[in-house]
Amino acid sequence: MGRFFNAFFLAFLATSFVLYLVHAQTQQGFISIDCGSNSSYTEPTTGIDYVSDSNYVETGLVSSISSDYTLDTLLQQLWNLRSFPEGIRNCYTIPVKPGTKYLIRSSFLYANYDAKNSTPTFDIYFGPNFWTTVTLPKVQTIIDVEIIHITTSNQVQVCLVNTGNGVPFISAIELRPLPNTSYVTLSGSLTAFLRLDVGAPNDTFIRFPDDVYDRVWSPLTPMVKWTPISTTLLKSINNEDVLGFKAPAKVLSTASTVINASAPMEFSWGDIDITTQYYVYMYFAELQELKANQSRSFNIYVNDKLWINERISPVYLSELVGHSITPFTNNDTYDCKLIMSEGSTLPPILNAIEIYKVMNFTQPTTEQDDVDAIESIKNNYGVTKDWQGDPCAPKMFAWQGVNCSHDASTPPRITGLDLSSSGLTGQISANISNLAKLVVLDLSNNSLSGPVPDFLVGMSSLTVINLSGNNLSGLIPAALIDRKNKGSLSLSVEGNPNLHETTSEKKKNNIVVPIVAAIGGAIIIIILILAYVYFIRRKRSSKGPTIADPHSPVNSEVELHPHEPLRTPNRQLSYTDILKMTNNFSRLLGEGGFGKVYYGVMGNSEVAVKMLSPKSTQGYQEFQAEVDLLLRVHHRNLTSLVGYCNEGEARMGLVYEYMGKGNLGSVLSGGRGKVLRWEERLKIALDSAQGLEYLHDGCRPPIIHRDIKTSNILLNEYLQAKLADFGLSRAFPNEGGATHVTTRVVGTPGYLDPEYYSSYKLTEKSDVYSFGIVILELITGRPVLVKTSEKSHIIQWVDSNINQGDIYSIIDPNIKDDCNTNSVWKAVDIGMSCTARNPINRLTMSQVVSELKECLNLELNQSGKQIDSITTISSTFHFEMGPMAR
Ligand SMILES: *[C@@H]1O[C@H](CO)[C@@H](O)[C@H](O)[C@H]1NC(C)=O
Ligand SMILES: *[C@@H]1O[C@H](CO)[C@@H](O)[C@H](O)[C@H]1NC(C)=O
Ligand SMILES: *[C@@H]1O[C@H](CO)[C@@H](O)[C@H](O)[C@H]1NC(C)=O
Ligand SMILES: *[C@@H]1O[C@H](CO)[C@@H](O)[C@H](O)[C@H]1NC(C)=O
Ligand SMILES: *[C@@H]1O[C@H](CO)[C@@H](O)[C@H](O)[C@H]1NC(C)=O
Ligand SMILES: *[C@@H]1O[C@H](CO)[C@@H](O)[C@H](O)[C@H]1NC(C)=O
Ligand SMILES: *[C@@H]1O[C@H](CO)[C@@H](O)[C@H](O)[C@H]1NC(C)=O
Ligand SMILES: *[C@@H]1O[C@H](CO)[C@@H](O)[C@H](O)[C@H]1NC(C)=O
Ligand SMILES: *[C@@H]1O[C@H](CO)[C@@H](O)[C@H](O)[C@H]1NC(C)=O
Repeated sequence: MGRFFNAFFLAFLATSFVLYLVHAQTQQGFISIDCGSNSSYTEPTTGIDYVSDSNYVETGLVSSISSDYTLDTLLQQLWNLRSFPEGIRNCYTIPVKPGTKYLIRSSFLYANYDAKNSTPTFDIYFGPNFWTTVTLPKVQTIIDVEIIHITTSNQVQVCLVNTGNGVPFISAIELRPLPNTSYVTLSGSLTAFLRLDVGAPNDTFIRFPDDVYDRVWSPLTPMVKWTPISTTLLKSINNEDVLGFKAPAKVLSTASTVINASAPMEFSWGDIDITTQYYVYMYFAELQELKANQSRSFNIYVNDKLWINERISPVYLSELVGHSITPFTNNDTYDCKLIMSEGSTLPPILNAIEIYKVMNFTQPTTEQDDVDAIESIKNNYGVTKDWQGDPCAPKMFAWQGVNCSHDASTPPRITGLDLSSSGLTGQISANISNLAKLVVLDLSNNSLSGPVPDFLVGMSSLTVINLSGNNLSGLIPAALIDRKNKGSLSLSVEGNPNLHETTSEKKKNNIVVPIVAAIGGAIIIIILILAYVYFIRRKRSSKGPTIADPHSPVNSEVELHPHEPLRTPNRQLSYTDILKMTNNFSRLLGEGGFGKVYYGVMGNSEVAVKMLSPKSTQGYQEFQAEVDLLLRVHHRNLTSLVGYCNEGEARMGLVYEYMGKGNLGSVLSGGRGKVLRWEERLKIALDSAQGLEYLHDGCRPPIIHRDIKTSNILLNEYLQAKLADFGLSRAFPNEGGATHVTTRVVGTPGYLDPEYYSSYKLTEKSDVYSFGIVILELITGRPVLVKTSEKSHIIQWVDSNINQGDIYSIIDPNIKDDCNTNSVWKAVDIGMSCTARNPINRLTMSQVVSELKECLNLELNQSGKQIDSITTISSTFHFEMGPMAR
């Protein structure tokens, strides 16, 4: 098979030594572990801060690679390693943020550290799930294995398993948080199959700080029929990374085209296992300044089927990403062809490509309560057995002495604990009581002392307790004896000289014992329940009166404390600063009830400065509310507050990021000479919906905006939408089951929820109503209220026209010719469901978000069948003339 497949494959694996440039870039959320290092340091070429692995692993031996391989250019985290000559499975346990998408990379470089000149082969597991087999073809090969995975608990485990083919070792483990919106799959995690910087010189490897997510881009070994092109003008991408696929400018700066322009640009990939699923990401940017008579456009085919149902025509120095939404599957080979489309004068171009395989990590991890309990027991007794990784899973690596329930769908539970003859000392650990499903407990032949604890009585599933051969003392709880006598418990206590079964009086009175025992049991259970309730209460009150359900996942990044005084003085600005940045208020951007908005420049960024008018009555409260909120709430679809000035009276101002395209209301009304296309409108709707969803679902307590309308949706240069004007917002505590807040009616006529208006009950659904109006405006281009019309309100108007079944009668004439009616119908549906009269029938914002995504998908794939799409990530790069800043 003379396929390019092999070229790709080798390029991915045969990583050689690497040189990087250092820039200031944030490493926020990075976890960088140098296995085998004894100290923390900053890696000189990448500038990444590494820590020693000693806090993450309990076993293994530390070594350094042979000095034959320690070249200056070798990244420092590869100089040391940790090997595991003992035990079958050895694990790293790394604390993480739950619910976070991480790129997780393990690196391996053997480099003859053990002077045996023989590379091992071993398996690695991600928690209980098989990750991959690590095979090192050469002594000097560096292997990186990567997955993209959303964490489900507060730790991840990377385990090395000895398969009898040499001693496992590891050089580095790195975790990099990724945006939620990047690399989305229908199911499963992803493993990197290849990530290539097309057209790059053969020894350039690009990663952090050029790549903010620290992906490692390898050069593609030149292909015979391809020809590299490059530019030096592409410096950086300054605009926001909307989807989280931003490729480094350096990666995009090189590309390949084909030598024979009329021939397709071809490559392929595949695997013998046809069930493998692939997600593909292709990155494009035009690198040549095209002459008037030149053009470049092409289509992408995979196995002779059109992949992206749109002509690809990359814009000069702008990034374009084509990516899978559903995976490729059911074939062993995927032949990809980029074919010049009719009328194009230049051949296709490809700047970078990533291909990922889907990993099904379906083996569940042991129930967290059991894990916590057994970890505590291990620590209490200093258990020295080979207890690492998940206690129960996978079954073949279950901890020695631990038996578990294994049933395919539910997390394993610990059912048996055998710590006999393990040299245990001290009392019987109370942590055992947390193993709620324990059936067999064997602590025989140790040196345990103290009483037989009462908690054993409360452990109802226990049927075998073996405490023989210890130094336990005191009385055995009567309830245990009773269960033993009834035959429901096998209790062995012999060989404890100071332990007594019961006193002789009790033996005489056979009726009282069970009652006392039963009452004793009841009391214990009641105490446990009280303790539990108390614990939950405490937990709640320490977090503020905010969490309704202690078991609901709390993913919010903010904790709102509405009554706290303003903090973060570093964002407070003086009035002099304001004068300076606005150049004495020289450029007025707009004016509202609260005061005037001016253009300003702060550092290198453009800002909008809103000065509070002293005449404005509610002004001060709203000013406070807005500062309070924005200092704590951050989301890419909410305008961000850069600073504020609070020097009393006429000197109160808020400084926001500058939104170059103004507000949606004025753009829609044609005030800015720009007509928004339907696709752009849908993206704006989705952006704002995500901002609002965040306020409702991502914040604790939820926040109701209360004044959603087109003029409060701002657009930046790239038409990315952000919600603004939080002056009326209200944090909405949902303690005590309250589902609404009674408050004075505020808002804007036409957008105001009629239910709220009549009942004064404020819920998230009031925002949903207003948002529905915004959707209808985007479809129709019509203002919310038209006084001259009989059907003055937009809902009445849409409703009466739509009932006649003619969608075209309501579509904004400006977009009629450039929209897919299916997606418009769907949008109308969403708008009408948001504005249902009864709030119960309205969608929630998270439903709105997913419906809008589908709607956008429909629009992007006109046929409604194509499932892949192309997304413009950013429309401009910033570039400078002159030599590269090397
Ligand atoms: C740390 O490791 C380096 C080499 O890997 C060694 O030179 C140094 O002595 C070690 N320091 C300590 C405190 O063990
Ligand atoms: C990211 O995605 C996860 C899983 O879909 C979700 O639980 C979490 O709330 C999301 N986080 C944000 C900030 O959207
Ligand atoms: C990389 O390119 C240089 C010069 O073009 C060449 O001499 C060298 O052999 C190439 N290395 C590989 C691994 O292809
Ligand atoms: C270029 O490609 C076209 C289409 O594949 C082919 O017909 C033509 O012979 C090729 N030209 C050369 C010089 O290889
Ligand atoms: C395009 O225009 C340039 C001059 O600007 C000319 O040299 C070239 O031949 C033209 N190419 C084509 C294909 O017309
Ligand atoms: C696999 O791809 C080939 C073309 O490369 C195609 O002929 C074949 O039908 C595909 N198989 C399946 C199961 O789709
Ligand atoms: C992963 O699991 C899902 C559901 O369990 C299944 O639909 C999908 O086909 C699996 N993917 C692979 C690659 O096994
Ligand atoms: C664990 O399971 C094995 C096999 O079923 C059994 O022999 C052993 O007694 C069990 N041990 C415990 C502590 O449950
Ligand atoms: C379990 O052990 C830990 C210390 O290892 C201790 O802090 C905790 O209170 C124990 N839990 C119970 C229920 O005894």
